[in-house]
Amino acid sequence: MKTYAIILASGKGERTGLDIPKQFVKIAGKTVLEHTINTFDKHTGIDEIIIVSNPDYISLTEDIIKRNDFKKVKKILAGGKTRRESSYIGVSSIEEENGKVLIHDAVRPFLQSKIIDECISALDSYKAVDVAINSADTIVKVDNKNIIEEIPERKYLKRGQTPQAFELQLIRKAHELANNNNITVTDDCGLIVKLKLADVYVINGDDFNRKITYPIDVAIADKLFQLNSINAPKNDLSKLKDKVLVIFGASKGIGKAISEMAKDYGAKIYGFSRKTGVDVTEFKQIQKALDEVYSKENKIDYIVNTAGLLRMGKLNCREIDDIIEEVKINYMGCVNIAQLAPKYLNKGSLIFFTSSSYTRGRALYSIYSSTKAAIVNLTQALAEEWENEHININVINPERTATPMRLENFGKEPEDTLLKAETVAEACLNTLLSDYTGQVIDVKRR
Ligand code: CTP
Ligand code: MG
Repeated sequence: MKTYAIILASGKGERTGLDIPKQFVKIAGKTVLEHTINTFDKHTGIDEIIIVSNPDYISLTEDIIKRNDFKKVKKILAGGKTRRESSYIGVSSIEEENGKVLIHDAVRPFLQSKIIDECISALDSYKAVDVAINSADTIVKVDNKNIIEEIPERKYLKRGQTPQAFELQLIRKAHELANNNNITVTDDCGLIVKLKLADVYVINGDDFNRKITYPIDVAIADKLFQLNSINAPKNDLSKLKDKVLVIFGASKGIGKAISEMAKDYGAKIYGFSRKTGVDVTEFKQIQKALDEVYSKENKIDYIVNTAGLLRMGKLNCREIDDIIEEVKINYMGCVNIAQLAPKYLNKGSLIFFTSSSYTRGRALYSIYSSTKAAIVNLTQALAEEWENEHININVINPERTATPMRLENFGKEPEDTLLKAETVAEACLNTLLSDYTGQVIDVKRR
């Protein structure tokens, strides 16, 4: 008996007010629909995926499936005018007699695979399963004059999410009855309840499993991907084999760790630093370095800049030349590299480094924290500018890391409170291999 996932993507997304339906908006380098399909495609409990697409976007949906090589997508169907109709189109396309069916909103891209697991196993005991979360707010019931009629006890009130899971025969019957009786509901469990066909068991959803509905949800989704991206880009690092990777700031700390790890995976590494005569504040020196690599290899796949400087002290007590040097290394270094990168990278990827102080300026290292904030902003802007050139750019945000620079400024700290340079290197290499762009990738201690 097979388990099917029906992904509903036929809506117009009118409430988000964008030019395209929200399921086709790109977040973290991929459309919302791609993120959603990916979760089901990867899940070992799902056998087949059926996409019910907005009829005007079928060919885009087909492109998405091809581009990602999603193996489990067996059908792309044109959806209906209402969610219920789209859902019916998905359910009635299944030819087998029996099976398990999970119906999910394409616009909930943060679904965790754990919820899919629980839906599938709950179907062994129940014929219909809903996913819902507790309501933090009190829910009031009002009449048509906006006067409270009732305040139901909160512990019995939950907010519905998806997926909703069913025995195939039950959900098929529910839709057929609804067709004949002109029943309107907002979701599939609503049908089962309205028609009194079975008990609907509720499993716990998750706050992350949000639906993109209004413009603010697109902005929140973008932030959630950033939060989520801590362990997110996981790739097969052996894909680094024969890739050409240029590292600025390669002589020590994180740069050195990246260089060593990438070499182990078979990448061709070109490391530069002031020691090798390449100062990131000097445009011409960077250009010369990139030229050298390019003429030797005929390509550059990735560029990473870890060069940075942290000088502590009250701003007014510091020498101006010292401040300028810090700004130039931290900020202008990135600008210089970014200026040159598109000439050398063909669909490649660039990575900068920020610090957790970018979100809030810190006393005694005001220049460091403000240059690190500037790098995040620069990364976001360039990700948009380079979209059509297919160059990805991201910025890694490591927690406090055990590096010579940290030791110099903060003295010896307990080892278990610091990230290892290798952990940061691994996140950096995974990000280079991902489709992410414009993202701040947080790296935390495990
Ligand atoms: N959906 C669908 N077919 C429809 C309407 C909705 O497949 N005719 C899907 C949407 O694509 C979405 C999910 O059902 O994945 C939840 O619906 P909703 O959030 O209402 O999306 P839209 O209908 O697209 O948005 P809006 O109501 O703002 O137009
Ligand atoms: Mg709708």
